[in-house]
This record gives sequence, structure tokens and C-alpha cells, in this order.
Amino acid sequence: MKLDLEIKPETIHVAIVMDGNGRWANERALARLKGHAKGADRVRHIVRASLNMNVTHLTLFAFSTENWKRSESEVIGLMSLFRKFMKSESKKLLINGVKVRFIGDRNRLDKSLIELMNNLEDLTNNNDTLHLTIALNYGGRDEIIRATKKISEKIKSDELELDDITIELFSNNLDTFDLPDPDLVIRTSGEKRTSNFLPWQCAYSEYVFEESNWPDFNKEIYEEILKEFKTRERRYGAVLRQ
Ligand code: IPE
Ligand code: IPE
Ligand code: MG
Repeated sequence: MKLDLEIKPETIHVAIVMDGNGRWANERALARLKGHAKGADRVRHIVRASLNMNVTHLTLFAFSTENWKRSESEVIGLMSLFRKFMKSESKKLLINGVKVRFIGDRNRLDKSLIELMNNLEDLTNNNDTLHLTIALNYGGRDEIIRATKKISEKIKSDELELDDITIELFSNNLDTFDLPDPDLVIRTSGEKRTSNFLPWQCAYSEYVFEESNWPDFNKEIYEEILKEFKTRERRYGAVLRQ
């Protein structure tokens, strides 16, 4: 029997809008930042659960291009939580085979934060078990505009022609150029909207809107969602059964 070495191992890409930290804190008469801190703890838990369930790609929405509209103290608090997370988790991520990548526009971020992001990417670059992508200062429309500018520059300099623009070329100019499209998007906290999260990449993704707030999300709920997702029939516009 001939083994087909061309066949890629199956990937499963889960993307999560980690929403509801503020409401979780409000319900307990705590400051919003306490909710975010608990949310960071859930990230650790869900990364571990993803490794255990053989999820190959996990993309987490941590901060949107619209989240700058929040109070200065909340934004500063979130940024310092991101720093803390990267410092405390880097070794564990490295030894567990997690490859970390960031998507979003880094220009508006603090130098010290960008340095930590670059270091974590470099440190985990050779890992392959779980591809963890963190969307930080990410907005789907912003990403599409940045990709359009990149392509336009290449046309201006005659590196590309107009007819070279295809879906594939466009995808390759997005921040997610090296990622498969998400199979499943989970949004916690009961909100049923996408809030500018991966609009191009999620054209054919399945969605689950989960009632619990992100600080209450756990591996049992996650497991149930994945189980149900696996029963879905994905059609991509075709007719599978006549
Ligand atoms: C998600 O929780 C975390 C971020 C957007 C950074 P929220 O802070 O949006 O929580 P709610 O929606 O106010 O409850
Ligand atoms: C989306 O949640 C962004 C993140 C989870 C980082 P938001 O709480 O910012 O979204 P809206 O404002 O409710 O749409
Ligand atoms: Mg929210």
C-alpha cells in the first residue's frame, strides 16, 4: 500500500470573541478590570483545553480597533494585562508547543508591548502543535484597508497588475496570510454580532453564540460546542446530497 504523504493532517481553527468581562464584573459589583483579569485566566484555561482537544488553530479577539473608545484607565489596564500575560505565560506556551502570532495594527501600540509581542513570536516560532493567534488592535475593516494599500503599492511599482488581484492574492495580503480560515467562531456573553472580527476570513465559518460571559467560559462548555459543531454539514454553496 502506498502512503500519500501529500495529505495534510486535518486542521481545526476555532476563533473566539471573548466578550462579557465587563458584565461579569458588574454583576459582582467589581471593577471592570477585575473582569478582564479573570478573562486572562480563562485564556490560559482555554489554551490548555484546546491542546487537549487537538484544536490546531485558536484565534482570540483580545482588543479591537474600536476598543480605544473606552476610558483611558480601562485601556491602560488592558494593555498592562496583556504585558503581564505575555511575561508570565511565555515559557509555558513554549514548552507546550504553542506557536504565538499577533494580528492587527501594531502602529498604535506601546513600544514595550510590541517588543514583548515580537519576542513571544520569535520564541515560539518553531512550535507547531497549536497555532495561537491573538488579535490585538485588530479590526476587520482596518485589515482590509491595509491589505488594499499593500496591493496598491505593488501595482504602483509595477510589481503586480490589476488582473493579478484574486481572492488568493487578497488573502495573502491580510494579517492572517498564513492561517486557514476559521471553521468555528464562538462569541460569549450572548451578543449576536461579529463586531468587525475576521469578516473576510469568516465568509463560510460556522457560528455559536454562547450565553456565558467569557470569565465563566470553561472547558466543559467548549467541549459541548465542539461536539455540536462536528455534527454540522458545511456546504460552501454546493449541494451535497440530492
Ligand atoms: C470583552 O469584554 C473584552 C474586551 C473587549 C477587551 P467586554 O469588556 O467587552 O465586556 P462587556 O461587553 O462590557 O460585558
Ligand atoms: C468585541 O467585543 C471585541 C473583543 C472581544 C476584543 P466588544 O465588546 O468590543 O464589541 P461590541 O462593542 O459589543 O460590539
Ligand atoms: Mg463587550
